[in-house]
Amino acid sequence: MILAGGFATRLRPLSCSKPKLLFPIVGVPLVESMARWLGSGGVDQVVLAVNHLSDKLKIEVGQSIGGVRVVFSVEEAPLGTAGPIRLASNLLGKDDPFFVINGDIVSNIDLVGMLALHKSSEADATIALVSVPNPSQYGSVLTDSDGIVSKFDEKSGSFSSPGLVNAGVYVLSPRVMSSIPIGKSVSLEREVFPRLVENGKMQSWMHHGFWYDIGRVSEYVRTNKELLERQEAGSGESERDRQKVGHIVRPAYLGSKSRLGVGSEVGPFTILSDNVTVGDSATVQNSIVFEETTIGEKATIEDAVIGERVVIGRGSKIGRGSIIAGQSSIPARSVVPPDSVILC
Ligand code: GTP
Repeated sequence: MILAGGFATRLRPLSCSKPKLLFPIVGVPLVESMARWLGSGGVDQVVLAVNHLSDKLKIEVGQSIGGVRVVFSVEEAPLGTAGPIRLASNLLGKDDPFFVINGDIVSNIDLVGMLALHKSSEADATIALVSVPNPSQYGSVLTDSDGIVSKFDEKSGSFSSPGLVNAGVYVLSPRVMSSIPIGKSVSLEREVFPRLVENGKMQSWMHHGFWYDIGRVSEYVRTNKELLERQEAGSGESERDRQKVGHIVRPAYLGSKSRLGVGSEVGPFTILSDNVTVGDSATVQNSIVFEETTIGEKATIEDAVIGERVVIGRGSKIGRGSIIAGQSSIPARSVVPPDSVILC
């Protein structure tokens, strides 16, 4: 199950017109990257736990994505992070353990290894842990020498740094289901896990690979830039090398059907999703641009995140650190001061 029914308030205004699971991660919708990762771990069906406002997600995702079958479980009212598990109990199976994953995680956690550890332990839940320099914004976790979780502290910031934190990826045994009341908003982190920890029923899986939580704009940007660099290091010829008229400064990513005008410059650290048009002599540096956006000629964009279907008028200057909501229109020759947030 991927939990995807939150309101993504920390990603506003970009999330006002786009569900978090559809945010592009180096040009690929997050839900597709997650499905591919889950598929590589042997998962063949994903239950997307969503709220009643998720029509856009349903239309975009359809019945399968990234080679994995998708079933939607829709809440009339938000049920928190545990309530959706109970709601979808008939979809998650009675006998076998299942994964539950926050819908804002980009990672290469070894799901096969994690599941095997869970099955070989007596635990009711296994939680993936990562080490981060500053645990205060995440749920901090302490374990004993056998990896059994001894303390779980959801975002109170009371543990020392650096430290181990909840990676938002769990394996649960079906017997956890009965501890979640039906039809109520229940928190896994604040209600279900503390009880399991008290009873010594929570195992940990230490993850040493990459892990990002894209829940805040700054982290979303960092994720994209670091993954872009990682991909550049290993990739050969790609779309960007077919662009002849514009100048591309690596690392950069150009989605399919993105077009560069004569004398334009894109990069470094720039990601254009599909169908982005960059006008003649425009420059885009250190920025992420969502799909179907049009950047007018001679416009300059630096250190910005631009939502989907935005029109940036010709000659406009978008200041560093600005965020422009999807479907906005910036008139020609506008000067957007640094750190602006433009709502649509
Ligand atoms: P913020 O509003 O920015 O905190 O974002 P969020 O609520 O989307 O994310 P948070 O990190 O608080 O929640 C972790 C995960 O649980 C996210 O993937 C959310 O989509 C999901 N989630 C939170 N509340 C609910 C809920 O009531 N129902 C469902 N189905 N998922 C939820």
